[in-house]
Amino acid sequence: MRLHRAALVSTLLCLTTLLIHTESTQPPFSCDLSDPSTKSYPFCRTSLPISQRARDLVSRLTLDEKVAQLVNTAPAIPRLGVPAYEWWSEALHGVADAGYGIQFNGRINGATSFPQVILTAATFDAHLWYRIGQAIGTEARAVYNEGQAKGMTFWAPNINVFRDPRWGRGQETPGEDPLVTGKYAISYVRGVQGDSFEGGKLKDGHLQASACCKHFTAYDLDRWQGVDRYGFDAQVSKQDLADTYQPPFQSCIQQGQASGIMCAYNRVNGVPNCADYNLLSNIARGKWGFQGYITSDCDAVSIIHDNQGYAKSPEDAVADVLKAGMDVNCGSYLKNYTKSAVQQRKLPESSVDRALQNLFSVRMRLGLFSGNPNKMLYGDIGPSQVCTKEHQNLALEAARNGIVLLKNSARLLPLSKTKTTSVAIIGPNGNNAHTFVGNYAGPPCKSVTLFQATQQYVKNTMYHQGCNAINCTSVSIPEAVGIAKAADHVILIVGLDQSQEREDHDRKDLVLPGKQQSLIASVAKAAKKPVIMVLLCGGPVDISFAKYDPKIGSILWAGYPGEAGGIALAEIIFGDHNPGGKLPMTWYPKDFIKVPMTDMRMRPEPSSGYPGRTYRFYTGRKVYQFGYGLSYTRYVYEFVSVTRNKLHLGKSMAAGSSESLQYMSVSELGTEFCERATISATVGVNNLGKMAGKHPVLLFVKQAKLTNGNPIKQLVGFHSVTLKAGERAEVEFALNPCDHLSRANEDGLMVIEGGSHHLVVGDEEYPIDIVI
Ligand SMILES: *[C@@H]1O[C@H](CO)[C@@H](O)[C@H](O)[C@H]1NC(C)=O
Ligand SMILES: *[C@@H]1O[C@H](CO)[C@@H](O)[C@H](O)[C@H]1NC(C)=O
Repeated sequence: MRLHRAALVSTLLCLTTLLIHTESTQPPFSCDLSDPSTKSYPFCRTSLPISQRARDLVSRLTLDEKVAQLVNTAPAIPRLGVPAYEWWSEALHGVADAGYGIQFNGRINGATSFPQVILTAATFDAHLWYRIGQAIGTEARAVYNEGQAKGMTFWAPNINVFRDPRWGRGQETPGEDPLVTGKYAISYVRGVQGDSFEGGKLKDGHLQASACCKHFTAYDLDRWQGVDRYGFDAQVSKQDLADTYQPPFQSCIQQGQASGIMCAYNRVNGVPNCADYNLLSNIARGKWGFQGYITSDCDAVSIIHDNQGYAKSPEDAVADVLKAGMDVNCGSYLKNYTKSAVQQRKLPESSVDRALQNLFSVRMRLGLFSGNPNKMLYGDIGPSQVCTKEHQNLALEAARNGIVLLKNSARLLPLSKTKTTSVAIIGPNGNNAHTFVGNYAGPPCKSVTLFQATQQYVKNTMYHQGCNAINCTSVSIPEAVGIAKAADHVILIVGLDQSQEREDHDRKDLVLPGKQQSLIASVAKAAKKPVIMVLLCGGPVDISFAKYDPKIGSILWAGYPGEAGGIALAEIIFGDHNPGGKLPMTWYPKDFIKVPMTDMRMRPEPSSGYPGRTYRFYTGRKVYQFGYGLSYTRYVYEFVSVTRNKLHLGKSMAAGSSESLQYMSVSELGTEFCERATISATVGVNNLGKMAGKHPVLLFVKQAKLTNGNPIKQLVGFHSVTLKAGERAEVEFALNPCDHLSRANEDGLMVIEGGSHHLVVGDEEYPIDIVI
């Protein structure tokens, strides 16, 4: 039978589509039950412990096969039915295609884009962070099941403490507080990996997707005045390591049970992180019980030889990292030099086996060696679970609850939905949804700009970009002033974008780029009423000029608020949502840049004028402080009850040299004592205003005496409550003295000092006396 040509073509097309479709829907997996040659291997037997299965698989590999597996793009081992695997995928604030593992090239062509982490942190809501993690883990598994993922290991969260306001990657982090950062890490990791909010052991260690705490450790400088992260040797004191740089990683590993760690580019006190046996093996695996794989940052092994000169040869670098406990190299260095390192007897093959044991264990925990994963746990998650209404609402909720109201003179906000007849939006990001998403993002489910979202409220909304670009090298003041004069209200949308702050690019100053400030001043002067300023930026900007300018009525900080950020901003501006976000980092004045970014010290040194860093130690003037954030309503606090106001620690065995400096170390007190000595503090919070709101309550501890490098104050708990107008709630905080009343001494030991302490919430204080 002769087929009509057109029919033939369409049949062929149909077949091709089917073929492509079948291929792309098959996720890569090992131990195919329909393949008699591979299914009988012990490493395929899911009834055996994973450690045994991984050992069996490693024992079957030749040295060449082993070496090939030590890099992020791991090839297939066809004779064993093992497919290729890509270790590098990203999911900082939504599944992204920034690594090599994820492709949005099939039925799934985008993922929910949550706000950049710094804004999500501003919600101070750990359960929200967990739900975001869950949504990301689910969408990741859907991408894998659909055959669009070559791996399920995601290199997030970024939990380095945001130490210096210039850091280009501060936007990726949960801010400057170690407790907040640690809690964020725990919540995100548990969500992504498929654990419950409260934690507890995952079923057989089984992972929905794998999360990775990065960058271990003391990494928070990218490129500043000729110093870059590849060459930087961070000088960090034991004290700062113990109570600032390390705690988020300890939380991520111990409570989050993260299955991955990334070692950072930089050196710490001379030793490259990825070559640091003490850090990777003694501390992470030994002391903290880490179980998972350790990857290098990309090309972080080559630099140990090429940039840092720490290793004399490439083989020495390879031997250093594999002996230290690193398992996989992002890059190709280990593929090129591991065999020669073994042949030159610089590295025992057992070190390679040790690494592979960790690598294959994680792949097995992901269910990739259990036959067709579509038939396994998480196998039924499909494209319909990506960009769901629920996930998109969660992105909106996070943006809404993160956005911080910094100024609201004469209650300019919210604007009336009925009486506002026209709005002018002015600024380079007013009609640009791309900037809202931030870095390490995939294509979002949808994009709505602030201009579009405002039009939903006020039909007569005008827009002018004001500047040529965010750098604002040229400005069109007459045009901007023209629409400002014609409008009832003006919204100026200014700040930064990835051209100003990003990976590999720290800022040189803390001010608005180019001529933005003169645009703002001119528009504010010309407008009929005080203007609203929306600030997009990850790191803080010194906007003192706007803070004190009466023509600027309101200021909102929106970080990079993600795919729903435009809608969230419009809802806040027009009173459909009451802002409740609080700043997760200190906003420093512009002269802070006289402090070298390379100086890692957290504590101030008055004799040299070094001001210290973050709310815990910084002694200078602030533009806005950590925890600051206004609302359309008013909240008041009271201490309702505190179960004890005196804590007896018993006689010190390691009393300090002077009588006034008595302390006990946390380890000598012991966890049992601290459990028994836990203080329960109940705080009442009352919404005295006329509007419902979600409000994070932040509890700090401060010591009366500011000596020995004590923090000025320290956040010890936070809890977000939703209150109707006039409603009151009580929030309970459990304070374990070992965790919450301790600080690091100069030797990096956590100690509790005797003397007078205060619990602080808002302006309320409650005294607690510690007696030794
Ligand atoms: C490894 O070898 C390949 C092939 O010779 C080369 O292209 C690549 O640059 C090498 N990688 C490194 C990090 O030296
Ligand atoms: C300003 O930004 C524009 C657009 O991104 C770019 O083309 C231009 O080179 C930038 N100018 C400067 C001085 O950085």
